[in-house]
Amino acid sequence: MKSNALEREIERFQLRTPQARTLNDEAKEYLPGGSSRGTAWFDPYPIVADRGAGHYLYDVDGNAYLDFMINATSLILGHAHPDVVGALQEQAARGTAFSAPTKLQAKLASILCDRIPSVERVRFTNSGTEGTLMAIRAARAYTGRHKIAKFEGGYHGSHEYAAVSVRPPASALDPEGPTAIPEHPGQPPSVAEGVVTLPYNNLEKSRRILKAHAHELACVIMEPIASALGYLPADPEFLSGIREATEELGLLLIFDEVQSFRAAPGGAQQSFNVVPDMTCLGKIIGGGLPVGAFGGREDVMALFDPTNGGAEVAHAGTFNANPMTLAAGTVVMEAMTPAIYQRLNALGETLRAKLRAVFDELEVPCQITGTASFFGMHITSEPVTDYRSALRSDKAMRNALFMGLVNEGVLLQESCSGALSTLTTDTEVDALVDAVREVLHRIS
Ligand SMILES: Cc1ncc(COP(=O)(O)O)c(C=O)c1O
Repeated sequence: MKSNALEREIERFQLRTPQARTLNDEAKEYLPGGSSRGTAWFDPYPIVADRGAGHYLYDVDGNAYLDFMINATSLILGHAHPDVVGALQEQAARGTAFSAPTKLQAKLASILCDRIPSVERVRFTNSGTEGTLMAIRAARAYTGRHKIAKFEGGYHGSHEYAAVSVRPPASALDPEGPTAIPEHPGQPPSVAEGVVTLPYNNLEKSRRILKAHAHELACVIMEPIASALGYLPADPEFLSGIREATEELGLLLIFDEVQSFRAAPGGAQQSFNVVPDMTCLGKIIGGGLPVGAFGGREDVMALFDPTNGGAEVAHAGTFNANPMTLAAGTVVMEAMTPAIYQRLNALGETLRAKLRAVFDELEVPCQITGTASFFGMHITSEPVTDYRSALRSDKAMRNALFMGLVNEGVLLQESCSGALSTLTTDTEVDALVDAVREVLHRIS
């Protein structure tokens, strides 16, 4: 990378975003660093959103961004889709939240149960974090065991047992293999004792570790497509091997499909043809409003059944299954027909091929990851198969690429990954690819 490439992109950014700078400075008076959300902040300060329309996000400085971040992949129909806006206006006028169920609850639940192979019963939450927390609690209650197994580099939300070995620094890694490392100061050290960590895409090692800990494990929680690793899909044999191992050892298998659900009408479990015991959901099922859900086998979900003398596991939440989220989510799910998934995923394939070609053309080493409508870029010549290989990516260059793309009016996740929306066509794919070429010319 050219020296000072990142600094030059930051200078360019600051010239384009004076209002954002002022607003972020003002926000610092009231919020630490001016921020409430990790993924909505980047150095030196984030753009400040004014509005979204279709494929574009507009900032307060008057810049337009072709948005491939789409609120962490959640806005699969793009910003302010007229049908979603209409459903929300109608519901807002009828009331936004009640201490009573609405007809919408069973409607969206039926769509999810019909489509997702593992989901016989489902419950709604307000975030993916709560969804994974409750699925894990269900697995513990069902099995009577308390430890969980997760993969190194896997993100499943911010609660204590999920926040283990998500992004451990290279210096903390045991060369022998994954260990349980709490993510943050402030977590009790005991969380590490409750978590067994596994290497992604390594069936032999994972199986060995699971076997050794089976007597104390309730579940394995994992993503079939590892979002924090640039949407790296699991090797199919690895995924089916983990299913076999968990079945053999009597552990519940939880798929965190908070992100990967957008891969197919029935989620990534349908495309891989691997059915877990439990599934966690979020993002697209809320139509752009706060949401999460967990569901799975009827006998496990029966723990939450309040009839017959009360639920074994109580689960409350002031805004669980609120009608605003359900109304928006139902519009989105009904819009997502099998033909749309097919078109979107084919376009994802085209984008990944075109990105590969640009990096090859400019002789910049890169691994393009992703599947379905997801993509990720890792600046490394080595194949990316797990957390440790993803760590080899040139972070400084990736930051310069991210910032350069912002300056070109293209918004990705800071890790240089993203997702398509149903509004994406060849035109937007080519615009992204051309912007990557332009930025690589500047920085490499
Ligand atoms: C795979 C995965 N699981 C869980 C979560 C947590 O969801 P939420 O941010 O809605 O709490 C996320 C959020 O990005 C996620 O990507």
